[in-house]
Order: sequence, then structure tokens, then C-alpha cells
Amino acid sequence: MTGKVIPSCKVAALVAGTLSLTPFSASADAENGERLFRACAACHQIGEGAINRIGPQLNGLVGRLIGTVDGYDYSDTLSEAGADGDVWSEAALSAFLEDPRGYLPGTSMVFRGIRDETDRTDLISYLIQEGGTSEAAAEAGPESGPSPEIAAILAVEGDVAYGEYLSSECTACHRGAGGEDIPSIAGLAPSVFIAGLSAYRTGEREHPVMNMVASRLGDEEIAALAAYFEAQTTE
Ligand code: HEC
Ligand code: HEC
Repeated sequence: MTGKVIPSCKVAALVAGTLSLTPFSASADAENGERLFRACAACHQIGEGAINRIGPQLNGLVGRLIGTVDGYDYSDTLSEAGADGDVWSEAALSAFLEDPRGYLPGTSMVFRGIRDETDRTDLISYLIQEGGTSEAAAEAGPESGPSPEIAAILAVEGDVAYGEYLSSECTACHRGAGGEDIPSIAGLAPSVFIAGLSAYRTGEREHPVMNMVASRLGDEEIAALAAYFEAQTTE
């Protein structure tokens, strides 16, 4: 992800405004943050067009209610924290990233934590640079934030038999464990599957074939396919 959600001058202002509250952030090194983010990128996306993967997309993270990205299936721990009104402040993020399971016992995020405080500050500064804060994401328009479109599809109960019928169009490419350029979609969590197809349908994620495939699918078809593929294995 290279795109910025908001103009960099605005980011600079936000970074200055929000980070000045923390004593250790004066010289945050976003380059070090970018390096540290590689460990997160296995599971998370950030920046323009970021979608939910194994973990939720991380745009507008600072100031965002915990566990509330549309279309992502959180652990009870994170959902409950958000329902209680808990927000990702920089201090909360720092504590979570130091020891995810210590800070939010029961989280499904498997990550050992970053012990070094300077590293955590650099990483948080990188997250703000790439994904903005939650006010900024709202200002940048609906496309950079979680989409109500995904929530609408998730609300439809998928008909597995219908999904199986439709799947023959997909398995010509998406076979078993996937190929070099074709990801495996068998066993994918519905939240991830639906977020993916929805992003192709809106054009948020660009891939000519998938844009065309998704543009022909209605909410009911996507929900049915998600239910069918969730039950498949890569064997
Ligand atoms: C192995 C996969 C994995 C890695 C690596 C990983 N995460 Fe996560 N992350 C998750 C999952 C899964 C969740 C959802 C946790 C839950 O629901 O309990 C999550 C949740 C989060 C949340 C909460 C988001 C929200 O919407 O409330 C933040 C913040 C976060 N991760 C940041 C990071 C950062 C920063 C890194 C790198 C230092 C990282 N994660 C590394 C899988 C991962
Ligand atoms: C002609 C080959 C082809 C067909 C047919 C096809 N796909 Fe895809 N699909 C791809 C490729 C290639 C990608 C990766 C595109 C990218 O890089 O964004 C992809 C990506 C996806 C993703 C995102 C996976 C992820 O890990 O993010 C989903 C979900 C998906 N396809 C579902 C489907 C469904 C459902 C169908 C049938 C209705 C289908 N595809 C038909 C080639 C195909």
C-alpha cells in the first residue's frame, strides 16, 4: 500500500497534534515504523483501498472505537471493548502492541509484542502517516473507511447450495490451495471473502477479471458464495 488517505500536509498537522500528547514521540522515525510494519503486513492492510484480511484494515486507527471495522469478525474481547466505548488512543495502542494478550486477554491476534518503546512510537507514527486518524478517515470520504455495503452483505444468510451452484464459475481459476497469481479462497472467513468481493465490485480493489466477475454478483450471490467457500478446504 503506497497511497495516502489524506494529503500529507494534513497528516503532518494531525501527527503533530495527536502525538505531542505523548512524551516519547518527539522524534518518531516513520522509516523505522515502516520496517516494523512488515511484521503486521502478513495480516493487516493500511492505506488507500485497504481491506480486511486475517486482521482488520488499520485505516483511521487512532481515535477509532476498538473492534468496530465493518465486515470483520472480531473476538468477543475486542467487540466488547468497542461496545463499552473504548477507543484506540495512542497509549492504548502502545500497550496493546507491547503485549497484545496481556493487554486484551482473549484477543485472537497472534503476535508476541514489541518490547521497545521507541519502536512502538515509530510504528504508531507510521500507522498515522499511512492510515490517518479516525477523524481524517471520515473527512476523506466513505471509500477510505469501512463500508456499509459490506455490512449489508454480511446481514444476508448465505445459501450454501446456491453458492455451490455458482462456484463453478470461480473454481476454473480458484482451485484448491491456489496458484502462483491466484489466491486460495477455500476456507476463507466470510468477512474476508465478502470484503474482498465487495472491494472488487466497487472498484476499490483493481483487477480486471475480478472486477468483471464481482460486478455481476448481487448481495445474495456473494453471501451464498461466501457460505459455500467457507466450508471448503484446500485439500
Ligand atoms: C498473525 C496475524 C497478525 C499479525 C502478525 C498482526 N495482527 Fe493485528 N490483528 C490480528 C487479528 C486476527 C486481529 C483481530 C483480533 C481480535 O478480534 O481479537 C488483530 C487486531 C489488531 C488491532 C485491533 C484493530 C481494531 O479494529 O480494533 C490492531 C490495532 C492491530 N491488530 C495492530 C497490529 C499491528 C500494528 C501489528 C504489527 C506490529 C499486528 N497487528 C500484527 C492479526 C494479526
Ligand atoms: C479468470 C480467473 C478468475 C475467476 C474466474 C475468478 N477469480 Fe477470483 N481472483 C482471481 C485472481 C487472479 C485474484 C487475485 C486478484 C488480485 O491480485 O487482486 C482473485 C481474487 C479473489 C478474491 C480475493 C482473495 C483474497 O485473498 O483477497 C476473492 C474473494 C475471489 N477472487 C473470489 C472469486 C469468486 C467468488 C469467483 C467466482 C464468482 C471468482 N473469484 C472468479 C482470479 C479469478
